[in-house]
Amino acid sequence: MDLPFEPYRIKVVERIQRVSRRERFAHLETAGYNVFKIPSEAIYVDLLTDSGTSAMSDQQWAAMMTGDEAYACSRSFEIFEQSVRSLFGFQHIIPTHQGRAAEGLLFAVAVRPGDVVPNNIHFDTTRANVEHVGGIAIDCVCDEGLEPALEAPFKGNMSLEKLDAAFVKYGRERIPLVMLTITNNSGGGQPVSVANVREVSEYCRERGVPLIFDACRFAENAWFVQQRESAYADRSVADIAREIFAFGDGCTMSAKKDGLVNIGGFLCLNDEALASEVTNLLILREGFPTYGGLAGRDLAAIAQGLREVTDPEYLSYRIGQVARLGRRLDELGVPILRPTGGHAVYIDARATLPHIPQREFPAQVFTAALYLESGVRAVEIGSLMFEHRDPDTGEPAFPAMELVRLAVPRRVYTHTQLDYVAEGCARVAHLGDRLHGLEIVWQPPALRHFTAALRPLAGGELVAQA
Ligand code: F0G
Repeated sequence: MDLPFEPYRIKVVERIQRVSRRERFAHLETAGYNVFKIPSEAIYVDLLTDSGTSAMSDQQWAAMMTGDEAYACSRSFEIFEQSVRSLFGFQHIIPTHQGRAAEGLLFAVAVRPGDVVPNNIHFDTTRANVEHVGGIAIDCVCDEGLEPALEAPFKGNMSLEKLDAAFVKYGRERIPLVMLTITNNSGGGQPVSVANVREVSEYCRERGVPLIFDACRFAENAWFVQQRESAYADRSVADIAREIFAFGDGCTMSAKKDGLVNIGGFLCLNDEALASEVTNLLILREGFPTYGGLAGRDLAAIAQGLREVTDPEYLSYRIGQVARLGRRLDELGVPILRPTGGHAVYIDARATLPHIPQREFPAQVFTAALYLESGVRAVEIGSLMFEHRDPDTGEPAFPAMELVRLAVPRRVYTHTQLDYVAEGCARVAHLGDRLHGLEIVWQPPALRHFTAALRPLAGGELVAQA
């Protein structure tokens, strides 16, 4: 049987419904062909994100009731701190309301205007937070990681050559830290091997530059290491995670992913002086250092979520469900990024809609058509999300890949629902050149994909009549 076994049963259900194609068309028009602006009640299967969309366990809900809501030094913080420390191992653990708050605090303190922050690939909020303080975010993922059709085990690895080229070009004094995103979300949810972590860590230590993990999906990354890196086949996921973190000097974390909660995050640092500066800013922006923008009950739920997320039964089901969605798409002839990632399947929109140039947002066209055809919400990770400028010339530059991400919330959807998603994607792929490109009607100054309004080119129709 190719169905991954669910290591749980369902105790609470939430009603969802399908709305008609006519209603979906009206929603799409009102939303300016931007699925971020469609009401969630009008969506059948929501694969916009795996972030904050997990189903919590009975144990997590029980922990919520034990939350200590004291402003200072709550018991829930102690439990949270112990749980984080047992896996991550860093000296200072600073709670924040989500991942980007951790990024914002870190960069506000560590990055000066003109500084350069290398990463395998920066996630959109990470890039935006670096740029917000005047820094330059550069991506150094290995070449394999930029070839969607190539099958390789660790396409999230950082290229040491590209990292070194950045040090040569900008100079060590302009690089306050190096980041490594595990798994590499913007590059297809691909893992980073421990061997690569070790190399990057040694490179950074030789130069006295801190290595900071973007650890949102650390358990999924550790699972891939166990499955694919032979030296780690007999090690537990928790152990592998500890080994990875020991190579770094800190991490930013969105607990909304591998913390299995609906809100929360944290920043970990070993450096005392940096942690103390960040904590001062935390008090100003997020809250007292033992709650950092969260309720005591949220800290309690994260503590429990981190205990559950390294369970091999859970991870085998989780990654298996995502891989199965990838196989279904493959069987139906939809080009996907290979191999499937930990949290999502990524459709290669350039290969699917080769007639639409990047300036007409092919991945956004696919995303809008998928909603129209099936009520499924995916997300564009392409030229709408990454409005690149060449750091030297300031000229517009398109991202290497044009992807549609089907992010699978944790413990939420059934295999039947994901089969329905695969069929919807196949219908869109088969529309082929009947699909028209999009143009932007309005956009904000930063992170435009969240709120931009678009319209179909060529007569205002997304799908040409047959
Ligand atoms: N880093 C990575 C790799 C992420 O994927 C995200 C969020 C963040 C940082 C920011 O965390 O949302 O808690 O502030 N990714 C979500 C997504 C939004 O859909 O991939 P946050």
